[in-house]
Amino acid sequence: MKTYIVGNWKLNFTVGESSIYLHKLLKKVPIIRDVEVVVAPTALALQPLSLQIDRHKMKLAAQNAFYRDYGAFTGEISFEQLRGLVDYCIIGHSERRHILGEDDKMIQKKVAAAIRNKITPILCIGETESERSFGETADVIRDQLIGGLTDVSEEDLGKVIIAYEPVWAISSTKASKPATPDEIAEVVKLIRETLKETYGAKVAEETPVLFGGSVNPSNAGAYLTVPGVNGLLVGGASLILGEFTDIIDIAKRVKS
Ligand code: PGA
Repeated sequence: MKTYIVGNWKLNFTVGESSIYLHKLLKKVPIIRDVEVVVAPTALALQPLSLQIDRHKMKLAAQNAFYRDYGAFTGEISFEQLRGLVDYCIIGHSERRHILGEDDKMIQKKVAAAIRNKITPILCIGETESERSFGETADVIRDQLIGGLTDVSEEDLGKVIIAYEPVWAISSTKASKPATPDEIAEVVKLIRETLKETYGAKVAEETPVLFGGSVNPSNAGAYLTVPGVNGLLVGGASLILGEFTDIIDIAKRVKS
C-alpha cells in the first residue's frame, strides 16, 4: 500500500503565497514511488494550483465541499465543480465538526458526493479530550466511522481514506498534547475491526488509515511505524517548507 503524506494548509496562505509555496515544494520534492504527497490549499487556490502542480510528484485536495452538485446553496462549492481540479477532499475535519457544526449526517452525504464525483474522500474521525476522559473514545470512533460511511458500498470503500485525528492532539486545540504511538495503535485497530465487521477482512485491511495531530519531523517516523498507519495528515508543519519536506523524506525512508 502507498504511504500518504497530506498537508492541510487550513485557512492559511493567500492564492499568491500558495503558488509560491507550491513552486518551492515542487522544486524540493522528487517523484517518490509509493509515497503519495497531497496538499490541501484554500479553495480559491485550487484552480491556479491545479494548472501549476506536477501530478507525478503530488496531488491536490480540497479541504471541504458541499454535498449537492448545484442549486440554491449560497456560498458553497460542489464536488462536481472540483472534479478535475482535485484528486482528494478532506471531509469531516474536527474543525468543521466542532467549529462549523457539521454532523455525521452531513458528512455522510459529503462522502457519498465525493465518491459520486470521483474524488477520494479523506474522512476524518476523532474524539475530543473530554470524550476520551469519559471513556467514550471507542463509541465516538465507531459512530463517526459508521455514520460517515453509511452510503458507501463495499466496492466504493476502496475509494475512501480514513484519517484518525484525536481532537486533543491537534496543534491548534487549546492545551493540545501529542498522541503516543500506543494510543494511536489502539484506535487504528478499532477502526480496522469496525471496517471488518461491516465490509469484511480484505477491504478493512486495504483501506488506508492516516494519523493526524501535531505531526512534525521528530515524531513522523514513530507515527509512520505504528501498526496499521498508512500515512499522515499534517497541519501546522505542512506550512513550513523544511518541516514538510523532512516529513516526506522520512516517509520515503520508512517505506524503503
Ligand atoms: P496539526 O493539524 O498538524 O497542526 O495538529 C492537523 C490537522 O488538523 O489536520
